[in-house]
Amino acid sequence: MEELDRRTLLRRAGLLAGTGALAGLVGCQPDRSPAAPAATTAAPTGWDGVRAQFELDPAKRHFAAFVLASHPRPVAEAIERHRRGLQADPDGYLEDHGQRLDRQARSAAAEYLGGDRGQVAFTRSTTDGLGLLYGGVALRAGQEVVTTAHDFYSTHEALRLRAERTGASVRRVRLYDDPAAVSAERLVAAVRRGLGPRTRVLALTWVHSGTGVKLPLAEVCAAVADHNRDRDPGDRVLVCVDAVHALGVEPAALPDLGCDFLVAGCHKWLFGPRGTGLVWGRREAWAEVTGTVPAFNGQAIGAWITGRDPTGPRSALFEPGGFHAFEHRWALAEAFQFHLGLGRRQVADRTTALATRLKDGLAAIPAVTLVTPRDPELSAGIVCLEVAGRDPGELLDALRGQGILASVTPYARPYLRLGPSIVTSEADVDAVVTAVRGLA
Ligand SMILES: Cc1ncc(COP(=O)(O)O)c(C=O)c1O
Repeated sequence: MEELDRRTLLRRAGLLAGTGALAGLVGCQPDRSPAAPAATTAAPTGWDGVRAQFELDPAKRHFAAFVLASHPRPVAEAIERHRRGLQADPDGYLEDHGQRLDRQARSAAAEYLGGDRGQVAFTRSTTDGLGLLYGGVALRAGQEVVTTAHDFYSTHEALRLRAERTGASVRRVRLYDDPAAVSAERLVAAVRRGLGPRTRVLALTWVHSGTGVKLPLAEVCAAVADHNRDRDPGDRVLVCVDAVHALGVEPAALPDLGCDFLVAGCHKWLFGPRGTGLVWGRREAWAEVTGTVPAFNGQAIGAWITGRDPTGPRSALFEPGGFHAFEHRWALAEAFQFHLGLGRRQVADRTTALATRLKDGLAAIPAVTLVTPRDPELSAGIVCLEVAGRDPGELLDALRGQGILASVTPYARPYLRLGPSIVTSEADVDAVVTAVRGLA
C-alpha cells in the first residue's frame, strides 16, 4: 500500500481542512490575524447592557426573538471576522485557521453543555439533528419508538420518514390534556405508562413549543433508568430529546440529566449563529447510531483514501460533512462563551423572573387563559395563552401593530406565544400585559 504521511494524506483530502477530527491529526496552527480570537468583551453591566449587545430594533419589544435568533455583538463580530477572511482567501483561511477555530467552537460547546468535545456533533439546526438521529439510531426487528402527542413536527416527521424507509414501528402517547394543570408526578407516570416491552427509543421534547410545558427531564430519565434496570444493553430504552427550547435557558449540565441524546439548534434561546445546531450524546450511547451524510474528517477520508473502513469516535462519523457556512459554525465559540460569561444560572433566573412576571400579569386579565403552567419547574421561557373569543393570529397582528413581536404556535391547536428572554425587560413585559388587556 502506498505510504502516506499524515500531512500528505490530509493535503490529498485537502477539502477537509478545518474540520473537527482533523485537529487531532495535524496539530494546532499558529494564530494569525485576521482570525485571531475575539477580544474579550467587557462583562455587560446589568440586563440593559446585555440587551444593548443586540442589533434588534429598539423600537420593538422582542417576544419572538427565540424563534430565530439575532446574535449579540461578540458573535456578530466573530462572524464578520471569519467572513472577511473567507471572502479574501477561502481555501487559505480554512487551511490556516480552520482546525483551531473548529476546536474552539467544540471546546466552548463542551464547556457549556458538560461532558467533552467528542460527545458533540454539529449540525445546521434542530431539525437536521433530529432527522439524522431518528434516521440513524439502531432498531432491531420488533423494537419500537415511542414519542408523544406534544412533540413538534420535526420529531414526528423524522420518525414518519424512518418508518416509511424501514418499517420501524412508532407509537404516540399523550402525557396531558390540560397543559396548565400538569404535575411532575403525573408527567413521569404518563411516560412510564407509555413504555412497553419492545420500546427501544423514547423521543421526547424537553420544553413543548405548543404549550410551554417543560418536562421534569431528570425525573423522566430516572424513571426510564428504572425501567431499563434488568434489560440487556441492546433492549435499553434510549432517551432522545429535542432540547431546543431549553438550550440557553435551563441551567443543568447535560450529563447530569441521564438522557442518551439531546438535539438542539443554537439559533434560538442560545442566540447563536443562524444555521447552527448540535447533537449531544452520552459517550456509550453514540455506539447506537450511524451517520447518514458522509462525515468530513481526516480519519474518515483518510480511511477512504487508503481503502479502509473509517474508525474514530462515532460522533465524528455521525456529523454531516461537506463544506459549511464556517463563519457561522466557528462563531459558536463566542455564542457559548457569551452565555458562560453571563452565567447559566443567571440567564435561567432572568428568564424565569420575566416569564413569571408575564404569567402573573396575564393571569389577572379575566378573558385570558394561561396555557403554560405557572410553576417554573414545569415551564421555561415559552408562555402560551388564549384570549376568549379572539383568534391568535388576529392577536398577533394587533400586537405587532403596537410594536410587540410575538408568535402563534404552529400546531393543530394554535395559541398566542410569547418568549420573554435576555433581550426583553420588565418594561417590555408590562407593556405586553397592558396590550393584551386592551385586546381582551
Ligand atoms: C420543539 C421544536 N423543535 C424544533 C424546531 C425547529 O428548530 P430548527 O429551526 O432549529 O430546526 C422548533 C421550532 O422551530 C420547535 O419548536
